[in-house]
Amino acid sequence: MAVLKTSYCCQNCGAKHSKWLGQCSSCKEWNTLVEEVIKKSSKVDLGLSNDQLKSRALLVNDIDFEKDPRLLIQDKELNRVLGGGIVPGSLVLIGGEPGIGKSTLLLQISLEIKNKVLYVTGEESQQQIRRRANRINNDFNQCYILNETNVETIISQINAIKPELVIIDSIQTLQTDIIESSPGSVSQIKESASQFLNYSKKTNLPVFLVGHITKDGGIAGPKILEHMVDVVLQFEGDRNNIYRILRAKKNRFGSTAEIGIYEMLNNGLRQVTNPSELLISNNKTPLSGNATASTIEGIRPIMIEVQALVSSAVYGTPQRSTTGFNAKRLNMLLAVLEKRAGFKLGSKDVFLNITGGIKIEDPAMDLAVVAAILSSNFNIPLQKRICFAAEIGLSGELRSVPKIDQRINEAEKLGFKILIVSEAAKISFVPKKLKIISYSRIEDLIKNLFKEQGLE
Ligand code: TYD
Ligand code: MG
Repeated sequence: MAVLKTSYCCQNCGAKHSKWLGQCSSCKEWNTLVEEVIKKSSKVDLGLSNDQLKSRALLVNDIDFEKDPRLLIQDKELNRVLGGGIVPGSLVLIGGEPGIGKSTLLLQISLEIKNKVLYVTGEESQQQIRRRANRINNDFNQCYILNETNVETIISQINAIKPELVIIDSIQTLQTDIIESSPGSVSQIKESASQFLNYSKKTNLPVFLVGHITKDGGIAGPKILEHMVDVVLQFEGDRNNIYRILRAKKNRFGSTAEIGIYEMLNNGLRQVTNPSELLISNNKTPLSGNATASTIEGIRPIMIEVQALVSSAVYGTPQRSTTGFNAKRLNMLLAVLEKRAGFKLGSKDVFLNITGGIKIEDPAMDLAVVAAILSSNFNIPLQKRICFAAEIGLSGELRSVPKIDQRINEAEKLGFKILIVSEAAKISFVPKKLKIISYSRIEDLIKNLFKEQGLE
């Protein structure tokens, strides 16, 4: 009888060990080794010709990079996040919470695109996908649906259909014949992904992999998966809200600063081309605790509303709760307010909300956050036509933020009358309809903006 070969695979980093250890010697995590059976044969038949399998060194000059242009898709948001279309032979990993819309997004792209696409699903039946397809789009192009989890069968179907784009939903459901462990285990994920990597590099076929995420937000499986692929995208958003953000965490072919914004509607995802107009509420009367920030994500300016509620703490420890804003950053801003502006926020609960549940990471939000907190604290509404763009330093100074000219143009376009910035901001022109006010410290904001409006 053949002896089964086993190895101990770290579920965190994917490293293999010949015997069980309490701590993985590679990533130093404890209790992560699991015994997995390895099959003897590790040769995989990719169904490729000898010519395709052979690799040969070429001079940089001789490499024909224009032979296969990027595959342009109709989805402008995804195009932008990818850095201008899908690069041939690229492996793209897209992660996100369950139910956020990963399958919807990828099916939508598969249906819209003019080229032949193979959509492989290990999670849903062909009928379920067809039902979803009807919901999204009634004009199907050349999209094939395959319900399969075995890597070798998928590859033979790719060879038979010859698609120009392959979607795998999801990498955690795949299982290859080389390894006997169950689907979703670290070595299955790693081996399956590496076979698609191998195939896509040899044939120039772009492949999208859907990845589940773990409790703490990382993509399930070994970290090495993220190193293997060319692009890692994150699809995020608040499930109770309709807005979704597509963000690049890694991109070998473009910037990671770009984001794509979508709305989840009844008939699929709709691209949001003008986010500022959606993210600002239409209340006619100004409300206390509201302030508008002028932010930039990638090359796109986005005006976004910040809402704060400051109230007396009922329990001993004051509560701090944020949606769409970094809680540590809020604590820092509160500490600065306490130290530099003499606020006793330690006895107050502070709630902070960014409209649409969208997470924006621009430090220029700081000033709007502080203004919203102060406005709620003093119960003085800010005029609706004011917006803010400055970072706040630890000593309470307002720091300048990049791309200020673009922020000015966007604020002017949306009808704002005043933009408050740092004194250090480098503005290269004088806007016609927008007044620029610059302050150097938080104290100036309190003295000028709030005292003017009735604060003693
Ligand atoms: P799905 O793409 O299945 O999420 P994931 O693959 O990331 O787990 O999205 C499921 C959610 O999207 C589900 O809760 C219903 C909602 N949805 C819509 O609101 N409109 C639609 O047109 C579709 C297809 C789904
Ligand atoms: Mg899904």
